[in-house]
Amino acid sequence: MSVIAVFNQKGGVGKTTTTLNVSTSVAQRGLATVAIDLDPQAHLTLAFGQRAFAKGDSCYSFFAENKPLAGMLRETAQGVRLLPGAPDLSKVDALHASDAGISGKLRQGIAAMVEEAQHRGPVFIDCCPMLGVLTLNALIAADSVLIPVSADYLSLQGVHRLDAALNVLEQRLNRKFLRRVVITRYDARRKLAAGVQEELARRYGASLCNTRIAENVALAESPMHGKDVFSHSPASPGARDYRALTEELFAAGFFG
Ligand SMILES: Nc1ncnc2c1ncn2[C@@H]1O[C@H](COP(=O)(O)OP(=O)(O)OP(=O)(O)O)[C@@H](O)[C@H]1O
Ligand SMILES: [Mg+2]
Repeated sequence: MSVIAVFNQKGGVGKTTTTLNVSTSVAQRGLATVAIDLDPQAHLTLAFGQRAFAKGDSCYSFFAENKPLAGMLRETAQGVRLLPGAPDLSKVDALHASDAGISGKLRQGIAAMVEEAQHRGPVFIDCCPMLGVLTLNALIAADSVLIPVSADYLSLQGVHRLDAALNVLEQRLNRKFLRRVVITRYDARRKLAAGVQEELARRYGASLCNTRIAENVALAESPMHGKDVFSHSPASPGARDYRALTEELFAAGFFG
């Protein structure tokens, strides 16, 4: 069992798109797969074709009421079991930041879920675009961190700060994450995109995935239909790229 946090504090870089399609692709290979929507926007929940409720079973019930995760998993058409997000998750920082042991809560919750649900496959966590209590919980629970970076200048600046923050956390936890940076929204017609790739390759070497995710309309459209890209548009460049990324991450031992 491996826990993978999909994180970048920059918004709109493709965290949710990556979580949706990589977790689906992993499930399609026959691995029992869980995805946790740890974002008050609950975009992953919607993209999986599920409704996000203000009240009811969600990650918020876990943080606020200690509800066990295993009983709240929902089956999805993608074959991934989903722990839904909820708008109330935005209160966790304000209400629970001072609770004792709050940042290790998700790690404990996942360990209990694995035991109770006899879960053996990977657990993906779609993080929100902020390094607060929720994301700290995701990182402390994680074995691996997948960092989507969109191919633009500001995104490049943000990833260097994120890398430094992960280094500090690794020192505190006294363990290393398996890390991969993946370039998203790549448009080969833009000179800037190639420049961003060069800079990332120079700084992150083998931690930069060979697979790039191209800017592709099928990836933007599929969540509107509550679908992953493979069922929405199986022959699209987006489906091809996310299949290749999943292969590459498998080979890197990302899924345990
Ligand atoms: N490769 C791509 N090609 C085209 N559109 C994309 C691609 N990746 C993501 N998008 C679109 O860009 C927007 C942002 O993507 P996404 O929601 O995955 O980013 P995010 O990092 O999860 O955002 P947030 O920080 O708000 O959680 C969405 O509308 C999504 O459909
Ligand atoms: Mg998102």
